[in-house]
Amino acid sequence: MRVDVVFTPDEAGAAPTGIVIDVIRATSTICQALVSGYKTVFCAADVDEARALRDALGEGVLGGERNAVRIPGFDLGNSPREYLELIAETLVLSTTNGTRAVVAAAGRCERVLIASLLNLSAVVEAARDAGDDVLVVCAGVQGTLALDDAFVAGRIVELLGCERTDAADAAARLTTTWTDAEEAFRASKSGRNLMENAPELEADIPFCARESVLDVVPRLVGMRAGAAEITP
Ligand code: MLT
Repeated sequence: MRVDVVFTPDEAGAAPTGIVIDVIRATSTICQALVSGYKTVFCAADVDEARALRDALGEGVLGGERNAVRIPGFDLGNSPREYLELIAETLVLSTTNGTRAVVAAAGRCERVLIASLLNLSAVVEAARDAGDDVLVVCAGVQGTLALDDAFVAGRIVELLGCERTDAADAAARLTTTWTDAEEAFRASKSGRNLMENAPELEADIPFCARESVLDVVPRLVGMRAGAAEITP
């Protein structure tokens, strides 16, 4: 078993198992929503696509952000703390980088799992049980590496404990640079974007920096109108 890491979704890399990370905040939100009782999360790359899908479904919560702020007309934003309470069975989510990364991974991996720090142990165990090579796909920020996702990728590499590519080794080595996840997240472009654009949501950073507190492995089960369908 071998693990590789791409720091942006457009980088070359392939493996049967893909693990997608956008820890601040899309994949943390997906994990929290499914633990709170949402049955399905649809990840839509575009805002119009998300609106059209929710209309076609005839029910569900429309959630997401652009520049960290709730999209006009949407029911909820992209703070995982907004998903502690269940208000519908379905969530249609569109975010700047994270939902696009999920859709990209769906096109290149046989099996797609969703990771955050919140469900770290559960997702690592699922990948190990699958037994195949792993590609960790970081969402990054608009086509560039983001330290928060790289940190979580490194924790996955460390816990998997299998053969590593150079990129996977680099991610694992990065994790020793900070005293803890929250420090890494605050130092990252994603963390800084959140604090600059939505300072009232700064508490999302320590919320997302808790490790292995949710026992959930969100996985891709299909595509619908261009959106990736994720269930627990
Ligand atoms: C994204 O998809 O880029 C993020 O989740 C942004 C955020 O909401 O902080």
